[in-house]
Amino acid sequence: MKTFYIETFGCQMNVHDSEKVIGTLVTQGYSQVDTPEQAELVFYNTCSIRDKAEQKVFHRLQQFKKEHGKGKTFAVLGCVAQQEGEKIFEKAPHVSLVCGSASYNQLPQMLVQLAAGNRRVTGLSLDTEDTFETPFARRDNPHRAYLTIIEGCDKSCAYCVVPFTRGPERSRTSASVMTETRQLEDAGYTEIQLLGQNVNSYRDPSPAGWDFAALLRNMGQAPGIRRVRFTTSHPRDFVKDIVDAIDEHPSLCNHVHLPVQSGSTRILEAMQRMYTRDEYMRRIEWMRNARRPIAISTDIIVGFPGETEADFDATLGLLDEVKFDSIFGFKYSRRPNTPALNLEGQIPEEEKVRRLAIVQEKQRAIQLERHVGYVGVVEECLVEGFNQATGQWIGRTSQNKTLNFLRTDSSEVLAGRYVNVRVTRAGPNSLAGECVN
Ligand code: 5AD
Ligand code: SF4
Repeated sequence: MKTFYIETFGCQMNVHDSEKVIGTLVTQGYSQVDTPEQAELVFYNTCSIRDKAEQKVFHRLQQFKKEHGKGKTFAVLGCVAQQEGEKIFEKAPHVSLVCGSASYNQLPQMLVQLAAGNRRVTGLSLDTEDTFETPFARRDNPHRAYLTIIEGCDKSCAYCVVPFTRGPERSRTSASVMTETRQLEDAGYTEIQLLGQNVNSYRDPSPAGWDFAALLRNMGQAPGIRRVRFTTSHPRDFVKDIVDAIDEHPSLCNHVHLPVQSGSTRILEAMQRMYTRDEYMRRIEWMRNARRPIAISTDIIVGFPGETEADFDATLGLLDEVKFDSIFGFKYSRRPNTPALNLEGQIPEEEKVRRLAIVQEKQRAIQLERHVGYVGVVEECLVEGFNQATGQWIGRTSQNKTLNFLRTDSSEVLAGRYVNVRVTRAGPNSLAGECVN
């Protein structure tokens, strides 16, 4: 039995890719171990979205080699593999496999080559129409499952490496998505998180021809599935029909992550985002006018090249206007190959730090204010676990808020169950309450 160890960085797509890679390896007769020491094959699934990801990867590879290097085979997967390609062999000669996500469906053949002693195996072609289909994926969470519906990205946001690391958009057939949904139901999962770089541009390649809203409506009727989430949405492809689908089907979670990046139309244009601030606000209005209260979260980048104080103020103004339920704030970082790499007007690091701190502080106040409005409300929670330190159960609402609660009358194991909780206290990042059933 050949053994492997895998370490994963980056987004949910990467986490789920690793689950599928594990499924593929197990199907090929490999067995997973918990530490690199025990493994013959060491996989490193990398992310290059921000910061100096490449350096970090090389540093980690050196460290791995020093500590557990003897007789092991090293493989670099994911976005840094795709971005750096064969350069990885030069900088880290102990690496034997470099493979980007668009080539994962050829992993079985690559494993055969590795086993045959080939020390320079690559999967770097982005020229694919296939998605990564595996007989099964090893999922860690017994209640919530990731399910990929679309891979790659056809947008060209000026700051972003993803179109270079994950290749062009490829949607899975609706039949394949629905078959996997039924398998997940049978396996006892009650929550499914649909994944794609841009789920809104999902387009069923089979004659059924479902768009994303049609897929959502069908998922919303899957009998065993109580919650369906999806990420990530691009505002340009976010249509009102998606909001209507959420209104029609209670199992479609009333939470939408809709990255805006900036509140300045001028910067949005420089970012090549293909929408204006007003167009973004129209989408917010659709959600605010929905019958169900839809929680909205976003991503913000501060310090994009050329961002003036007035542009930055526009972003702060947008935060005030929308009052997002949560945000992920980032300092712009230059990424290889991207259109923004050599733009003039790069913002100094200290200024980016300052702007990000202002964004975070403002958002903290907004979240606290929003959350106070939940006190007294009863919310259904999927119980995720128990926090020994606080003696509270950890629950998640359909709106994707963490709601910690006490339940003193029983010592039952609640993880994986759905319970009703009355909110009694609010903080900026979570709610607290008491179980009412
Ligand atoms: N610099 C800073 N943030 C970035 N993101 C993507 N690329 C960059 C970059 N070069 C952020 C965006 C995106 C999120 C996943 O990461 O906000 O929505
Ligand atoms: Fe990182 Fe983007 Fe690749 Fe995800 S797709 S792993 S966020 S670079």
